[in-house]
Amino acid sequence: MRTPIIAGNWKMNNTNAAAEQLINELKPLVADAKAEVVICVPYTAIATAARLTKGSNIKVGAENVSWADKGAFTGEISAEMLKEVGAEYVIIGHSERRQMFGETDETVNKRTVQALKNGLKPIVCVGETLQERESDRTKDVVKTQTAGAFAGMQAADLDNVVIAYEPVWAIGTGKTATAEQANETIAYIRSVVADLFGKTAADKLRIQYGGSMNPQNAAALMAQPDIDGGLIGGASLKAVDFSKVVKY
Ligand code: PGA
Repeated sequence: MRTPIIAGNWKMNNTNAAAEQLINELKPLVADAKAEVVICVPYTAIATAARLTKGSNIKVGAENVSWADKGAFTGEISAEMLKEVGAEYVIIGHSERRQMFGETDETVNKRTVQALKNGLKPIVCVGETLQERESDRTKDVVKTQTAGAFAGMQAADLDNVVIAYEPVWAIGTGKTATAEQANETIAYIRSVVADLFGKTAADKLRIQYGGSMNPQNAAALMAQPDIDGGLIGGASLKAVDFSKVVKY
């Protein structure tokens, strides 16, 4: 049995003051959640989030991590630094980073390896653009991204990994993949992982859906057999909405 995991992706939103308000509102709303609850927050809000969620069922994550240990990497943040301030999870390879900040399958792989080496749990994002879907390349794209992200890794490494399947055309657009569409691609990703790392690892691996997931569509998505959770952008910025997704 895979424990469902609902993770918020705050993106570049919320100062520390706003984070405090949102977390304090959220805590009682999700206290009895059955799913694992994570909020991935901007670097500057991680320490605040860790302090405020201490003793609660909310876990904290970052939105990226350097592939290097330390040194001359201006603007980067290391895994050790993230752990020190209380991050447990980290989003890697979000499509916004792939599209706007030059992230590639190779850098996603390096960051994933580095996160695992330091005891951070990666949430690795994959997903096709609208153009790729319309030209019938969805499977090729997610296969290449999945194989790329986990290159050189062993089956046991996947124990602490989550994949987020996020069709780029559904992110922040209000267009959700239908539950069946999402499940079909996620089942395919699972089959790719099975080919690479064996069926046992694939069966254990949690794969989330992400892209305009909200209180209205969460139940239908979560009812699908291969969908093990969600990576929630917009709806994670409102405590009530996020709690409704968490308690789909
Ligand atoms: P969205 O974002 O829920 O606002 O579509 C999801 C994501 O980008 O992780």
